[in-house]
Amino acid sequence: MIRKYRIGTPIETDSVVEKIKLSSGMVPGWEFDEKKKTLSMRMDADAAVYGLGVQVRGINKRGWHYVSFCADEPHHEEGKTSLYGANNFFVYVPSDKGDQRRFGMYVDTPGRVEFDIGFYNKDMFQVIFDEADAYTYLIEEEDDPDNNGASGILSIVRQFRRIIGRSYIAPRWAFGFGQSRWSYMNEDEVREVADAYDRTGIPLDSIYLDIDYMERYKDFTVSEENFPDFPAFVSEMKNRGLHLVPIIDAGVKIEKGYDVYEEGIAGDHFVKDGKGSPFTAAVWPGRVHFPDFLKEDTRRWFGEKYRRLMDAGIDGFWNDMNEPAIFYSEEHLAEVFEKLDTYKDKNLDIHSFFELQGLIGGLCNREEDYRSFYHEYKGERLRHDRVHNLYGFNMTRAAGEAFERIAPDSRPLLFSRASYIGMHRYAGIWTGDNMSWWSHLLLSIQQLPGLNMCGFLFAGSDIGGFGGDVTEELMIRWVSFGIFTPLFRNHSAMGTRRQELFRFNDTETMRRLVELRYALIPYLYSEYVRAAEQDEMLFRPLSFEYENDPRAAGVEDELFVGRSIMIAPVYTQNARGRYVYLPEEMKLVRFRSFSDYDEEWLSAGDHFLKAEPGEVPVFIRKGCELRLAEPVMRTSELPEYDELDKYVFRG
Ligand code: GLC
Repeated sequence: MIRKYRIGTPIETDSVVEKIKLSSGMVPGWEFDEKKKTLSMRMDADAAVYGLGVQVRGINKRGWHYVSFCADEPHHEEGKTSLYGANNFFVYVPSDKGDQRRFGMYVDTPGRVEFDIGFYNKDMFQVIFDEADAYTYLIEEEDDPDNNGASGILSIVRQFRRIIGRSYIAPRWAFGFGQSRWSYMNEDEVREVADAYDRTGIPLDSIYLDIDYMERYKDFTVSEENFPDFPAFVSEMKNRGLHLVPIIDAGVKIEKGYDVYEEGIAGDHFVKDGKGSPFTAAVWPGRVHFPDFLKEDTRRWFGEKYRRLMDAGIDGFWNDMNEPAIFYSEEHLAEVFEKLDTYKDKNLDIHSFFELQGLIGGLCNREEDYRSFYHEYKGERLRHDRVHNLYGFNMTRAAGEAFERIAPDSRPLLFSRASYIGMHRYAGIWTGDNMSWWSHLLLSIQQLPGLNMCGFLFAGSDIGGFGGDVTEELMIRWVSFGIFTPLFRNHSAMGTRRQELFRFNDTETMRRLVELRYALIPYLYSEYVRAAEQDEMLFRPLSFEYENDPRAAGVEDELFVGRSIMIAPVYTQNARGRYVYLPEEMKLVRFRSFSDYDEEWLSAGDHFLKAEPGEVPVFIRKGCELRLAEPVMRTSELPEYDELDKYVFRG
């Protein structure tokens, strides 16, 4: 049962595709304070809140405040309130003591909105708007005869997913292992990576090209010096069964003679400053203009540009810096330079020194800059901050819509960093610039259910961590978890320790782990496609499966993956295992490789689970089965799930 309410004069976001009649009045159960632009509700003392897509802190979001304002935020620390996505759907689950009922709510507003879930007041849930213009959808449980006994929370999620439209389905090769680095600078470096993986026998399906493949960071160009015959190189890699996946950034370099820039100006495709000129900011190439992806004809124009790389044989892309990230705006930089002059002969004391530091440190991603340019959206001129959260969505939509025209029969790979609900119909996401920290391995486990609830099924983190130096043990544990995520990509920042799997001492363990991934792909891919087609979640916390088990509600580090298996990754240094809680009896299979494992039945309750680095425990649900394939070097050599009969594990 879904009801739709209106607050103020909402901006249409295209996130919901099903027509739903507007109900009159305010969302029942919530109070709206017009002056404070706040919706609020008292929470039951034991209630849990799930959802909100890619965010900091655990699976149960209660106890913190989260701001939906897509942010280029490389510090994924628990004190942060925004990451790259703005995904305003959550499910509220009260205890059975009070008279509240479970429900889901989607707050559809493209501007900044804060979800205070027991932060200022531990028993209050407040939705605080910048502009109180929103549609809110209230989703209540319904008896679903096709639900196969699945819980109420899942039926709420399924109803929500139905109204936002079917999730993007990535090609099967995208489930293969991907190696990325900022950046592989030229053909030879890419070849060396491919050779080293083949030499060590570690399966691989894709190599990612980060910004340096371009000519001076210009979108849709390829450096002729470093990739002299790009189409030939793409096909050389294709012949080896490898896909190259280039990055595309949101900002278009301002450069006379660069056709994308020239066409953008001629076609009036860029967002405007207050005076009506194209807004100038800077990202990787220095000065850029931002395409106004909110305009349909700009989406069409920009989307067509992907064709250039697709004509060269490319069939996968990642869209980046599309919050949009801003290093500085031209206007503010001029102000800062002027101010800097005044410090020249000063004795910088506590105040002036910090002021100076703030001036430089505060250049990036300024709220004021986001309030200084304009879009044309559905016939209206709108200031950017009011529609900020639609920007990355619509950049990615430009690509997704273009793929439907350019390659209607194939399924290109596409994922983005920024997101808003609705984008899930066109692409997946990756969770951005994490660190090589154990806590970020845990975070990447905990981000998946919230993403799946919002329709983002094709998702994953930078395996091994993007920033900082990874250790071999952390990499082994991260890979041991990553083998279950749809996007399984090792990526790291420039300047950090090289972390391709063949560079570690124990490449044998790395190989066995990636082989196990390939053995799992038929299961994972068929469960993934099913989840997309049936509006299900691929990753589910225990609390969604065992709603009447109070212990399950507190488990933040175990996940069901598809219908048959549950995982309990190890995410601490020097561990030789971890505690697990089993809500019911399950079969444990402890894999050392796809063909080397031991099995035992474990009863419901708490157990210490032994898992040395390199051992991957998988729990099989009673009555379910898991079939593995024999590993291969490329996904194209894998059979379908139904064809497997050799390695069958029954719970
Ligand atoms: C951003 C991306 C990261 C990429 C880098 C350079 O930080 O999040 O993945 O490597 O830009 O393009």
